[in-house]
Amino acid sequence: MCGIVGYIGNKNCVPILINGLKRLEYRGYDSAGIGIILNNHSEVIKNKGKVSLLEEKIEKMNLQAALGIGHTRWATHGVPNEINAHPHYNKSKNLFVIHNGIIENYQILKTGLEKFGYEFVSQTDSEVLPHLIDSFLVKGHSLFKSVQLALAEVEGTYGIAVIYQGEPDKIVVARKGSPLVVGIGEQENFVASDVSAILAHTKQIVYLEDGEVVEVCKDRFTAKTIMDKEIEKEIHEITMSLDEINKGGYPHFMLKEIMEQSSSVCNSMRGRLLLNEGTSKLGGLENVIDQLVNSKRIIISACGTSWHAGLVGEYMFEQFARIPTEVEYASEFRYRNPIVNKDDTIFFISQSGETADTLAALREAKIRGALVLGICNVVGSSIARESLSGVYTHAGPEIGVASTKAFTSQLVVLALITLLIARKKDMSLVDGKSIAEEMQKIPDKISAILKLNDQIEKIASEFKDVKNFLYLGRGYNFPVALEGALKLKEISYIHAEGYPAAEMKHGPIALIDENMPVVFIAPKDSTYEKIISNIQEIKARKGRIIAIASESDDNIDKLVDYSIKIPDTIRMLMPILTVIPLQLLAYHIAVKKGLNVDQPRNLAKSVTVE
Ligand code: AGP
Ligand code: GLU
Repeated sequence: MCGIVGYIGNKNCVPILINGLKRLEYRGYDSAGIGIILNNHSEVIKNKGKVSLLEEKIEKMNLQAALGIGHTRWATHGVPNEINAHPHYNKSKNLFVIHNGIIENYQILKTGLEKFGYEFVSQTDSEVLPHLIDSFLVKGHSLFKSVQLALAEVEGTYGIAVIYQGEPDKIVVARKGSPLVVGIGEQENFVASDVSAILAHTKQIVYLEDGEVVEVCKDRFTAKTIMDKEIEKEIHEITMSLDEINKGGYPHFMLKEIMEQSSSVCNSMRGRLLLNEGTSKLGGLENVIDQLVNSKRIIISACGTSWHAGLVGEYMFEQFARIPTEVEYASEFRYRNPIVNKDDTIFFISQSGETADTLAALREAKIRGALVLGICNVVGSSIARESLSGVYTHAGPEIGVASTKAFTSQLVVLALITLLIARKKDMSLVDGKSIAEEMQKIPDKISAILKLNDQIEKIASEFKDVKNFLYLGRGYNFPVALEGALKLKEISYIHAEGYPAAEMKHGPIALIDENMPVVFIAPKDSTYEKIISNIQEIKARKGRIIAIASESDDNIDKLVDYSIKIPDTIRMLMPILTVIPLQLLAYHIAVKKGLNVDQPRNLAKSVTVE
């Protein structure tokens, strides 16, 4: 998820690593570190916080080395601190590993290694890697072979770079699900998770594919698969600018993050969905599961987009977990002397984990004695730390101010929690399995929706100059209507409102004329016929309609001006799909208006004031 850079050659690697890490800072991170190998000596220097702090620390040490690796960490397992920062190392401190991604089976591997006397110092999943590789080195294998053998036992995602004092002429890198490249120079080579880290030194790039392991020396590299099959790698010449590269080739972080959702949602589910048992496994809830299942009431509290995720959670919890659920704006919860009982569970949802209103509400809830759980994206954030327990969303760093991928990951986590509680209560194995199976299909369905980007961009051209927008949806898609309207407001400054579709006739219908476009979220579900009646009501008043509809729905095209057809899924998961066209619509309208989509006026990514 975060940054990797490495160097082997004749120069001093330290400034190259530090500059490389600075190039990776834009991705967001919480700690940084480097590992270097000098003649008969190795050093690892790391710290919590900024790369500039690491740089100050290193400057005082006056280090010179021709081989080294550097990392910026975005914590997934274990709080951000110096010990959990990478590189991680073996007991002799002569083997260093940096890792991006998540090792799903780290607990099993750790327990196995501990039996052989390996001692762990950090809370990370990543630390199993140096010990596991070490366990093969001590049997006489080469570094390259040891990395292959270790990775054959690893489940999860990784981009890794490994250096070892016993073989100081190479860096070994490998990739599965987390990007990694080798940069080719003259008597020097580079490795990185992202071309931007090394572009100042070379434009000749080799891209690793999943399952590949590469040995990088200063004057050559060899690539094999984990199963030891030789592979020929092509060298590519980079033509993109640095700015384009930082945004993954997209013009804005927001678009990059929208486009990432198939994989971010996958990361939120990784290792947590138990298909055969039709349930989920959420480590953070294990110690509180009985109290959670027996809660008399659930309260969800959050702000903005996270509050919208909470509204979807309310539908899920009440339908399947059968626990009465209320959703409260964190800012309101705190100031209205809420009734909170000891057998209530309160979830606080926050991407940043630092939102002042949410944090204040959490503290209030704790004083009142409820079970306080967090659903956060940023590991080790204040809300995550102060909650009794909770679940991380693992969407990866979100940089665009308008939240997109964090929202879909929040919905996935809420669905996982629902499944967990419902199966502990009265949901049958068959029903649990069918939900779990549907969840597994979501990433592919997201990919299909993202292919509609060009169509949505054309629709955006038609609407970029309007002054108002109305978003309507029912049931699970009512919160999506609110979220679609919020996205548009935030980045295009067009006034937009979301309503439950049936509420329209109780007021907002007075606004409808040919200048008021209406977005209907109208998939084929049990309220479809009712939504069609609402569409007719708008049409009769000359409103222009964009419908988010089911792929199989041929009927709707006759009734609306534009339809965006998306795959179906079960109702509880539908918001994960229906929100995506709305994110794209808002994005394209704002871009066509020439606005700064990543940093809209008056807004901050994390609102740390009340
Ligand atoms: C989302 O697009 C907004 N920028 C905003 O509403 C945000 O969701 C809200 O401030 C809550 O932030 P949090 O999830 O980090 O707590
Ligand atoms: N899972 C690892 C950790 O928490 C790596 C995180 C990252 O990708 O930066 O340390």
